[in-house]
Amino acid sequence: MNHLVSSSLLASDFLNLGNEVTMVNKSLADWIHLDIMDGVFVPNISFGLPVVEHVKKIAEKPLDVHLMIIDPDRYLSRFHDAGANILTVQYEACVHLQRTVTEIRRLGMRAGVAINPHTPVSLLVNTLPFIDMVLIMTVNPGFGGQIFIPECYNKIRDLKKMIHDGGYKVLIETDGGIDTTNATKLVETGVDVLVAGHSIFSSQNPTETIRKLKTLK
Ligand code: DX5
Ligand code: ZN
Repeated sequence: MNHLVSSSLLASDFLNLGNEVTMVNKSLADWIHLDIMDGVFVPNISFGLPVVEHVKKIAEKPLDVHLMIIDPDRYLSRFHDAGANILTVQYEACVHLQRTVTEIRRLGMRAGVAINPHTPVSLLVNTLPFIDMVLIMTVNPGFGGQIFIPECYNKIRDLKKMIHDGGYKVLIETDGGIDTTNATKLVETGVDVLVAGHSIFSSQNPTETIRKLKTLK
């Protein structure tokens, strides 16, 4: 499978959000990544439902919504109504994870589970039958522009094997510190979806950076 690129708006110019979404619409990016932070699960607050709703009005690509919030069950249907196509919850924030991901699917979204750098992929062995994607965090969640943690390559390899051995159709997404210097190795290691924020929006030519992340040339 050709890998996908999910462009994270966290690093975009919020004063010109409409133009930023239009740029992503016209680019080779596949998805639009939206980071929801509650100031409790992670030490930062980003943006919430009204921003997702507004982005949805002009987005021409699926919304890949990453919830970094405690007890996400409270908001699943509201993110669906706001326009999320893929909804990812953090493993560490869910007490009844199988119920949560089943509800995400019942609402008509694709279900993802994100794991922090310290969380072993082996903990997902009984969850893989119920989800569409695993998001391996390659930084500690909460902020854009952090340094990629290279130890995560082993997690990607191990998860790829678990997915293959079980015969599941589960995508592997990675998020945090991804740029044109590590994208190729990530895809070669088994990543299906690359999230990138800072490396796209802080570059001289974001459209061209997206093209490089997509084509790996
Ligand atoms: C971090 C977020 C990421 C963030 C990635 O907590 O989950 O999606 O936007 O940003 P970069 O690509 O700048 O590391
Ligand atoms: Zn994210």
